[in-house]
Amino acid sequence: MTYFEKIKTLPIKEKAVIMGIETSCDETAVAIIKDGREILADEIISSATEHVKFGGVVPEIASRMHTTAILKATKTALEKANLTLDDIDAFAVTEGSGLLGALLVGVSFAKSLAFSCNKPLVPVSHIRGHIAASYLADKGLKPPFVTILCSGGHTAIIAVKDYYDFKVYGSTIDDAVGEAFDKVARVLKLSYPGGPNVERLAKEGQNVVPLPKMLKNYQGSEFDFSYSGLKTAVINYVHNKQEKGEQINPADVACSFQHAAIDVLIEKALKVVNLTGYKTLTLSGGVGANGYLREALQKAVKDKDIKLVIPEKRYCTDNAAMIGAEGYLQYLKGNFADLDLNAKAVIPLSQK
Ligand SMILES: Nc1ncnc2c1ncn2[C@@H]1O[C@H](COP(=O)(O)OP(=O)(O)OP(=O)(O)O)[C@@H](O)[C@H]1O
Ligand SMILES: [Mg+2]
Repeated sequence: MTYFEKIKTLPIKEKAVIMGIETSCDETAVAIIKDGREILADEIISSATEHVKFGGVVPEIASRMHTTAILKATKTALEKANLTLDDIDAFAVTEGSGLLGALLVGVSFAKSLAFSCNKPLVPVSHIRGHIAASYLADKGLKPPFVTILCSGGHTAIIAVKDYYDFKVYGSTIDDAVGEAFDKVARVLKLSYPGGPNVERLAKEGQNVVPLPKMLKNYQGSEFDFSYSGLKTAVINYVHNKQEKGEQINPADVACSFQHAAIDVLIEKALKVVNLTGYKTLTLSGGVGANGYLREALQKAVKDKDIKLVIPEKRYCTDNAAMIGAEGYLQYLKGNFADLDLNAKAVIPLSQK
């Protein structure tokens, strides 16, 4: 019997222990999740400091760092959970979207574990993982709900109709919100990673810098986003002032940008909540760690019949616990991969 034939004969356990493996960008992460909701271990080794001097993630460096960190992260996760590889029921791994070389480290590692332990290999979409982080934040959370997906590469308002059925109401037509934070950080001479540094500086902002309204006269979906124009407006504002030899107040720029970038996420999400009639709203992705967004959302749903589920900041940015949580859902469906699984640079939002 081949490996794949063998794992197809294994019973699916409702109470399963899943190892999640995430290497799509600069975090090497391994987590162990019980029953899809309980985090037994959650290791993250970040190579972010290696990328600071380049102002962004260097894919080749990220891949090499994954290669040296992945075994350590796995051993530590097993130790902290007080388990051995024999206790793991399936190995879930991010297959995409992400940096191809970086993803391949996790995919190859997960394949060898699955093959040597004779356990299922479960491919997971990184974005579905971000959304599944909310199942860890609220153990009672069940679809349907609306989620604001706001990460480094994605921005969308999505209705999670059930665990496996999603409807994208609107998404960005150009840059992602996290990408805009990173680019604005650069023009304000803030170091990588930009988002948290823009947030820190924005706290000192006092005066409004006028920025254009997003997607004025746009003919597409009213739930779509465009961050390219906003980013360019900030860059132009800073450069024009510099050319004239005038001072800018970086805190005012950061604060005005943050308002413009975030307020529209909340506004459109609430419209989708109204439209669907769903009573729960969740946050998914790295920009969900933004304190202004978290507070503004709390205020926006106050006095409304909407339950808010906001994962801890650690589970908004890239981590493996979310991959274990989504991996569990895919495991229950028997969505296993054979040993020819390949990494994918892009997995469309609409795909499983
Ligand atoms: N406090 C914050 N405020 C604003 N942005 C933030 C904050 N913390 C992180 N970010 C942004 O979140 C992004 C990283 O999030 P995440 O890890 O989800 O993205 P990614 O994995 O690169 O992209 P994707 O998940 O779309 O593939 C970066 O753009 C970063 O600047
Ligand atoms: Mg991510």
